[in-house]
Amino acid sequence: MKRRDLTNLMGLGLLASSLPVAIAACQADSTQGGAGGNDGFVSLGTVADLDAQGALANGDVQGKNVAVIRDPKSPGAVVAVSAVCTHAGCTVAWDSAQGVFVCPCHGGRFNANGTVNSGPTRQPLGTFEAKIDGDRVLVKV
Ligand code: FES
Repeated sequence: MKRRDLTNLMGLGLLASSLPVAIAACQADSTQGGAGGNDGFVSLGTVADLDAQGALANGDVQGKNVAVIRDPKSPGAVVAVSAVCTHAGCTVAWDSAQGVFVCPCHGGRFNANGTVNSGPTRQPLGTFEAKIDGDRVLVKV
């Protein structure tokens, strides 16, 4: 084997051995999403904003319309629901005073956990995994 062939093989080996590290770095970046999430979670905002506004909502969390509130049964936790009304698809909004999600289209009302409270629909809102991590509210859709 010539010296040049040996050098080329060593270079190829070095490249191959560093490839898994480069792939792992790219994967870590994609799960972060640039939004402070981890493990597939993405940030919907800060805990301070959640507490000031009563809810955090985003109509495009990886293509999903999501609303997050504090869990009334466990204020240290959060609940995330699909903000798409199961009656005809309007966007529901959290009413802190009444403690329900209200649909503006036909008056549908949903409890904090997404179950039907009253109105024309019988299907609950979809739910998502959500958590507080430091000062961020994270959701996985
Ligand atoms: Fe929500 Fe009809 S679309 S109650």
